[in-house]
Amino acid sequence: MDDGTEPPAPPGEPSDEEPPTVRTPLSRRTMLLGLAAVGGISAVNVGAFLGAGGWFTPDTLTTSRFVDRFEQVFGKHDGFRRNHAKGVSATGLFTSNGAGTALSKASVFQTGTTLVTARFSISGGMPAAADTNAAVRGLGVLFHMVGGEQWRTAMVNVPVFTDRVPQGFYERLLATEPVPGTGRPDPAKVAAFLSKYPETARAMAVISKTPPSTGLYNSPYHGLNAFRFTNSAGVTVPVRWMMMPEGPIQTVSGAAHAPGKDYLFDALIDKLAQGPMRWRFLITVGQPGDPTNDATTAWPADRRQVDVGTLTIHSLQTEAPGNARDVNFDPTVLPEGIALSDDPLLAARSAVYAQSYQRRTGEPHSPSEVTVMPPQPTRVDVHEVDHEN
Ligand code: HEM
Repeated sequence: MDDGTEPPAPPGEPSDEEPPTVRTPLSRRTMLLGLAAVGGISAVNVGAFLGAGGWFTPDTLTTSRFVDRFEQVFGKHDGFRRNHAKGVSATGLFTSNGAGTALSKASVFQTGTTLVTARFSISGGMPAAADTNAAVRGLGVLFHMVGGEQWRTAMVNVPVFTDRVPQGFYERLLATEPVPGTGRPDPAKVAAFLSKYPETARAMAVISKTPPSTGLYNSPYHGLNAFRFTNSAGVTVPVRWMMMPEGPIQTVSGAAHAPGKDYLFDALIDKLAQGPMRWRFLITVGQPGDPTNDATTAWPADRRQVDVGTLTIHSLQTEAPGNARDVNFDPTVLPEGIALSDDPLLAARSAVYAQSYQRRTGEPHSPSEVTVMPPQPTRVDVHEVDHEN
């Protein structure tokens, strides 16, 4: 924690004395190590990636300018993320079926269960924004692995990303900013932007053909950036991953949606009250020639997909000290067996998330828009896990 306060243990947190059914009990120590690691890991990454990535030069884009741009467009909201500001914290389990070990030696893929800290969000830097069907939905997942290792990923519901390079995202934020009066972006600015970044026009065409689901609870979540998996035999393959909801994906029809400013989050909370929510964790294996440096382009649909297990969300919590509110879902925090690709977005994400994290944890905090009532337990019922296996 950078704000100097020690987060209290989450209510109902499993103690270290719990039977070791779950591989990685989320002890107070694990939580603290994870939170403390955020600043340290990110600081190392920022230095390394800025040097290697080449996107940071005095004359062009800097990490600070990027974060300033979010504040310029969305306003400055103390204590909140500069993007995906509206969200709710969650906890659960990843239950691995063992199939992932053929692809990666990461211990998370050995048969068994791993505790996760997660966060559901919508894109944009306004923490009290009204939910919309068009809002990009996000899911951050932090796997608490054995030996203090961590894997962090932040995924979205759209099938491709809008931007191939950080500069494109930076410029898009301003080019699509709503004009006072109309509340809509300036068409001339958008057209100029799209002619400079045709990959964004192509990506938007793909996204527009994929209607979002009705909720956060029945949405797929895509990692989009490519990574590299290395198995115990030393074989390395390019991969992408996604979480596929169990059960049917009901898509939105037109603009119709439930009433209420927070209808996406309200439905998520209602759904959890009926029981745990599950997603299948699917790894897509790329073939030689598949681009690993372009998140705006999907790989061919016939690529092999490996179902490596199930993510189960057991509880939701209002954002508060010590839960996902204080996690930086930096996608470059990876365990042994998973490595970065040459995707230029990854270095930028690491640097910008770290700066957003540093700013928000040093600021006063206001209550989050989404309140989980009654509070959902953070404790995972170990006996229920037994039955699931
Ligand atoms: C250059 C590219 C990108 C930039 C500059 C950027 C920027 C940001 C920032 C500033 C945050 C808030 C971080 C924090 O305070 O903890 C954030 C959160 C997030 N981003 Fe990105 N992002 C980028 C690309 C992506 C991509 C490619 C994805 C999806 C694959 C993504 C998904 C998310 C999600 C889901 C969150 C919320 C995670 C959470 O709940 O903490 N972003 N992004």
